[in-house]
This record gives sequence, structure tokens and C-alpha cells, in this order.
Amino acid sequence: MTGNVRINRFLAEAGVASRRKADILVAAGRVRINGDRAATGDKVDPARDEVRVDDEPVARIAEKVWFLLNKPAGYLSAVTDDRGRHTVVELLPPTPGLFPVGRLDREVEGVLLLTTDGDTAHRLTHPSFGITKVYRVLVAGNFPDTVIRALKSGVDIAGHLCRIIDAVAVASDQTTTTLELTLAEGRKHEVKELIKAVDRLLLRLERISFAGLTAQGLKPGEYRPLTKAEIGSIKKLTAQEPKDTK
Ligand code: URA
Repeated sequence: MTGNVRINRFLAEAGVASRRKADILVAAGRVRINGDRAATGDKVDPARDEVRVDDEPVARIAEKVWFLLNKPAGYLSAVTDDRGRHTVVELLPPTPGLFPVGRLDREVEGVLLLTTDGDTAHRLTHPSFGITKVYRVLVAGNFPDTVIRALKSGVDIAGHLCRIIDAVAVASDQTTTTLELTLAEGRKHEVKELIKAVDRLLLRLERISFAGLTAQGLKPGEYRPLTKAEIGSIKKLTAQEPKDTK
């Protein structure tokens, strides 16, 4: 056992079970590494070690793929659509198992990650990991500090207290205000719901950052692979088990 990937993560990435369930399999003595019974916290080298669960070999993990797409309007954040609408994967090189990390609404542009790494993608989108996203929003009218404070303290949306981390008004004219909102929640239509909750009209929505990554240099519809350093920083952000899994 010479590797650096924990056995629970290896099993999760191979699609065998979630990390927690993988821990249970290990504790129950159902996992073997190169023939030896695995213990909690053991590490494996995915390229070399032979892992078996209940005597069935677990396929070695293929290298995971990560892309950052500057999503254009008009594409669904999905792999396929039964109504034949365009989906974001059409904009990327054909890659088995590639899917978007979370979603941006169809008309929304901006930073969208796509990957074949289901375990890390799940962590990136789970509210308990608190991954930050920055949205640039154009709203009708003004957006005074009192409204920003209300959003920071939290507003009720369908029984959940939803709040923003920060809001900065970056431009305004007679009729509109442009703001950059930082959120760490990850709920469906969260920005639309928040703006509605404070009685404002949303005119335009764009995501300018996700987990610290931006679409700088990419026109809508363009993409790039993540660098090794970026993948490393995403792994770090999602390394801890969530404290609360509501
Ligand atoms: N919030 C929304 O309302 N829509 C998005 O696409 C992203 C965040």
C-alpha cells in the first residue's frame, strides 16, 4: 500500500459507495487491498493496487477530467434533454461520463465546471461545503444598503433561511443597479429567489466565479481544461467531511 488515495475516496470515485458507506464496508471487513483486509484510513495507489469488495475487483480509476466552460445562454446544464434542447456537454469534446457540476439556468451565462469526477462534483454542490459563487446581477431600480443588509441577515425562501455572504454595488444609473453577490449555499434558482424576496426585478444574471475560478479570457461558449493546481485546490476545498448534511 504505497499510494496516496484513501480507500474510502477510492471506492467513492470508482462508484462503489459514498465515502461514508465505503467506511462502513471497510469496517465490516468486506474490502481487500492486494489480498489484505483493508483498515479505515488505508491508502492505495489507484494505478497499482488491486482492490476488491466482497471478492469482486473494483475497476482502477481512470484519470478524472475537468473543464471550465463559459456557459452561453440557451444551453441546459444537463447531459441530455428528452425535449431535444441544446445541452452544455455539446460544447465540450466528447468525453464519456462528463457532466456539469451543479446547474446554471438555461438563459444564464458564466462559469460552469464539467467533470467525470462524481464524488468531488457532489461535494462542490452540496450546501454543507459552503463553496462560494459570485454572481453579477442587473436589477431594476436602486438597491440600498438596507436591502443588502436584509439579504445578509437572511430571508425566508420556502421555509429555508437563505442568505448572501456579501454584496457589492459595482455600477448604477437612473434605472438600474449592477451588483456582485457572493453566495455559499447552492440551492435551485437561489439568486432569482433572493432578488424576488426583496421585491426587486432581476434583469440579467451571470456567474463570474465558482470556487474561486473565473472565465477570464473565455468568450461565451469557450472552455478550457482545469490546470493541475486548480484541480488540487478544488480537492482541498472538498477534502473535509461536511459537518452537517441537511
Ligand atoms: N441562481 C439562479 O437563480 N439561477 C442560476 O442559474 C444560478 C443561481
